[in-house]
Amino acid sequence: MMKTKIIGKVVHGAKRGKKLGFPTANMEPSDKNFTLPRHGVYASLVEIDSKTYQAITNIGPAKTFGVKEATIEPHILDFDKDIYGKTITVKLIQYLRGMKKFTGPEELSRQLKRDYYKARDILRNNNKSNVKLEPIESLSHNKQNIIVEILNNDNKLQKALGSRQKTSTKDFIKTNKEWSKKNNANIYAIFTHSEPIGLISLTNIDNNNDSKVGYWLKSDCWNKGITAKAFDLIVDIAKDNKIKSLTCSIPKTCTASLAIWKKKKAQITEDGDYFIPRINL
Ligand SMILES: Cc1cc2nc3c(=O)[nH]c(=O)nc-3n(C[C@H](O)[C@H](O)[C@H](O)COP(=O)(O)O)c2cc1C
Repeated sequence: MMKTKIIGKVVHGAKRGKKLGFPTANMEPSDKNFTLPRHGVYASLVEIDSKTYQAITNIGPAKTFGVKEATIEPHILDFDKDIYGKTITVKLIQYLRGMKKFTGPEELSRQLKRDYYKARDILRNNNKSNVKLEPIESLSHNKQNIIVEILNNDNKLQKALGSRQKTSTKDFIKTNKEWSKKNNANIYAIFTHSEPIGLISLTNIDNNNDSKVGYWLKSDCWNKGITAKAFDLIVDIAKDNKIKSLTCSIPKTCTASLAIWKKKKAQITEDGDYFIPRINL
């Protein structure tokens, strides 16, 4: 996989993109000696103010409009904020096609729609393929500290989990050990890009039946398809352990979490403030 990075300031362009339905952030690379990568259209990720967005980026001249100079223009998917003057970072993830001369804006616009859907698929999978699980017992002290720091400082997550007291790494490990013994559970840290971002557990693992899944992720990793991928990985582990069915307690407010189970065609029952999905493996 390619990993080209371009840092630059967003400058005003010809403003044709907006009319096409694909507004772009025209970039001026900060490094004046920067050599442009191969011209073409790329599925890419754009970082703005430490947040990452999915994008399609063209590198090269807009031949359709008679433009001769190459430009770097990410169109950020589902984004409509004004970012003129900001310095952003574009990471090219996958080459999609070459730059072409279209018969006019309509034909270009139709192609951009196809680029949009293709990039979205690629980026979703790119994100997922970086999700890994590691048994909590084998985490280094440093990684354990990161998990505890998230638990202690992520307000949004604390709210979702129900407020809890701050904990030390030592107590956290001790509590987890006791909990997993009592519930016959395995606990795994969820990693993306080698960074621990949450936990996922599987209880009742020796019983072959109705194993309960529990998970939390730090809040800036929500709604990015990471939970779904961690869930796929835990399903694989459950199958390896010959578990026959999986269940969970999902607060009724967590519709995104329930959606993952629905996709797996879970049967869903209710218990007070919780949904109880169940899938057979
Ligand atoms: C993903 C993407 C792919 C593009 N592909 C082409 C292309 O193949 N041929 C072309 O002439 N222009 C292409 N364009 C460039 C558009 O023509 C350009 O964004 C438009 O002219 C708007 O420019 P502006 O931001 O300066 O207004 C592409 C733009 C994007 C964002």
